[in-house]
Amino acid sequence: MRDVYVIGAGMTPFGELWNKSMREIFVDASLAAIQDAGVDHVDSLYVGAMSPGLFIGQEHLGAVVADFLGITPIAATRVESACASGGISFRQAFLEVASGASDIVLAGGVEKMTDGADVTEALATAADQEYEVYHGITFPGLYAMIARAHMHQFGTTREQLAAVAVKNHRNGMKNPNAQFRSELTLEQVMKSTMVADPLRLLDCSPVSDGGAAVIVASAEVASKLKRKNVKVTASAQASDTITLHDRKQLTTLDAVVRASEKAYKMASKKPGDINFAEVHDCFTIAEIVITEDLGFFEKGKGGEAVEKGLTARESGKIPINSSGGLKSKGHPVGATGIAQIIELYEQLSGRAGDRQVKAAKVGLAQNMGGSGASCVVHILEAT
Ligand code: COA
Repeated sequence: MRDVYVIGAGMTPFGELWNKSMREIFVDASLAAIQDAGVDHVDSLYVGAMSPGLFIGQEHLGAVVADFLGITPIAATRVESACASGGISFRQAFLEVASGASDIVLAGGVEKMTDGADVTEALATAADQEYEVYHGITFPGLYAMIARAHMHQFGTTREQLAAVAVKNHRNGMKNPNAQFRSELTLEQVMKSTMVADPLRLLDCSPVSDGGAAVIVASAEVASKLKRKNVKVTASAQASDTITLHDRKQLTTLDAVVRASEKAYKMASKKPGDINFAEVHDCFTIAEIVITEDLGFFEKGKGGEAVEKGLTARESGKIPINSSGGLKSKGHPVGATGIAQIIELYEQLSGRAGDRQVKAAKVGLAQNMGGSGASCVVHILEAT
């Protein structure tokens, strides 16, 4: 396989973008990425999107966005894997450049969730319709079961869940593209409206619009650019049972374990070599479980780690979600995986401004779909 680099990035603010259509959001992010990279063309594009058909009634997204970007007749492909659609869009671009099929590929993601669709119902299509959704379960409900199991098995506390939201909002305050740039206290999180016991409103990622794009290129293209390059040293994907009740245990996300094992092997890295990570904190409990499953903390100790500040951006052993994460930055599901790659790219190229992580040399991005039935992990390094 050939070496692959990220050479440019662009994203829209995340939030309720009521004055922009989905295609405009994607075009804004893509043009910003193309301009940032300084390239005059791309060979192909991928667009990650979970459910534009249900959210706004539009399918056939590859063609729609290539048309509105004015770059037909290039190959344009929509990628879907629920909330992992963006991360897997990036992986497809990586594989296309690594294989030698293309030299410059745009990997993007977009979602427009606030235009009036029943978002809870649309999101629930990522769970098992016959065995889960039919019985009334929603995503907050699924993650609430994981949270209860983790609390029961390891003594994880309500305060530890809230500490994830407090930390991520603190980081998001420094991110100009974040949906919620407000400080939260533990008390506010713990007194917020109950959604699915024990998860409250402020334990949940929000409903968002947004788009994100990066330009992925071969070493030959990257070497012609003056900017410090960021290399993709691992791309790995795994799957798990779609239903929670078919899992051996609720407190481990096996696809996260498997994808990260493959990624560490591919990059010749261990969890201790990772300087910072963006992880899929769709609910506060998810960040706790994921940081354990990625091997950053012993199983059952993820809650204690966040409470002790070990994941804080400023001084933590391993800063997690310096961007604000899904919780504060927002979660337009198809765009999320690409936005994680953008945070790695900005941190590794020293462009993260006020939220720069010290000595950021190796970053990991973990993006997953549904209750963890699909997962993709990337490792990027400063060169
Ligand atoms: N974090 C912080 N604030 C939030 C929020 C969140 N997740 N969700 C909503 N708010 C704020 C809104 O801005 C609003 O504030 P305002 O009154 O000052 O304008 C207020 O809380 C109420 O918002 P509303 O839109 O009425 O909330 P809701 O009850 O319709 O939705 C959730 C709240 C938690 C149910 C919704 O955000 C949700 O479903 N989140 C999970 C999304 C999800 O499952 N994603 C996929 C993960 S796998």
